[in-house]
Amino acid sequence: MSVHSEIKKITTETLRKMKFDKEKITMLTAYDFTTAKMVDAGGIDAILIGDSAANVMAGHETTLPITLDQMIYHTQCVVRGVDRALIVADLPFGSYQSNSEKALESAVRMMKEGGAHSVKIEGGKEIEESITKIINAGIPVMGHLGLTPQSIYQFGTYKVRAKEDEEAEKLMSDAKLLEELGCFALVLEKIPADLAKRVSESISIPTIGIGAGAGCDGQVLVYHDMVGMNKGFSPKFLRRYLDLYTEITGAVSSFVKDVKTGDFPNENESY
Ligand code: KIV
Repeated sequence: MSVHSEIKKITTETLRKMKFDKEKITMLTAYDFTTAKMVDAGGIDAILIGDSAANVMAGHETTLPITLDQMIYHTQCVVRGVDRALIVADLPFGSYQSNSEKALESAVRMMKEGGAHSVKIEGGKEIEESITKIINAGIPVMGHLGLTPQSIYQFGTYKVRAKEDEEAEKLMSDAKLLEELGCFALVLEKIPADLAKRVSESISIPTIGIGAGAGCDGQVLVYHDMVGMNKGFSPKFLRRYLDLYTEITGAVSSFVKDVKTGDFPNENESY
């Protein structure tokens, strides 16, 4: 028997059961093989190849520029490093909004070429047809409501969404619709904690929050933010578990000093 077959893999069904059992779900982003391996070994339930790769990997200001081909490449890298976690890949801006045929085509490419286990797409009622088509093709879909960064130029700001009644009501009705359409889970980004709690209690599929309080069924963070690689991004919801920016720049400075002074390499480090 191979080592791989002994590992109990996380599936969309596992996440549903976790909600039922009131066990919190954990998700982190990863965009490359080495990080995915560490995140998986740390016991995470789901790994998201987020289109936040546009920001943290490529240095873009928004998530809009990343292409489907680039997201497929990141997904392929992650898939090779993961034994246990459920792999969720973002469909990027422009790959599903125009029509449901294109949405299905993009999702199929992400599964077939990328090797993802599921896709995540942003939006509610307005992309109903696309979600239905993708799910009918047997592809699990994770929804994403609240602050949906692909719509940043419509919102105009990254502030908390759905503070007003009208937007909160639309979000609640979109959440119920996504459940009805067959989404297996739902990301709730940057919305008031009491609204996220009400949504989580109103639907049977798990909610995974980012900046949405403790009432969600799980939590997701961007890996680079969580390990403190990104000094310039400090939203209230972020908890940093490491200060890797300081650690890494310190290590680089030490290497520079050791080489310049002739301390590295020493005899033991030479052939
Ligand atoms: O792209 C991403 O990293 C995301 C998370 C913030 C949920 O969508």
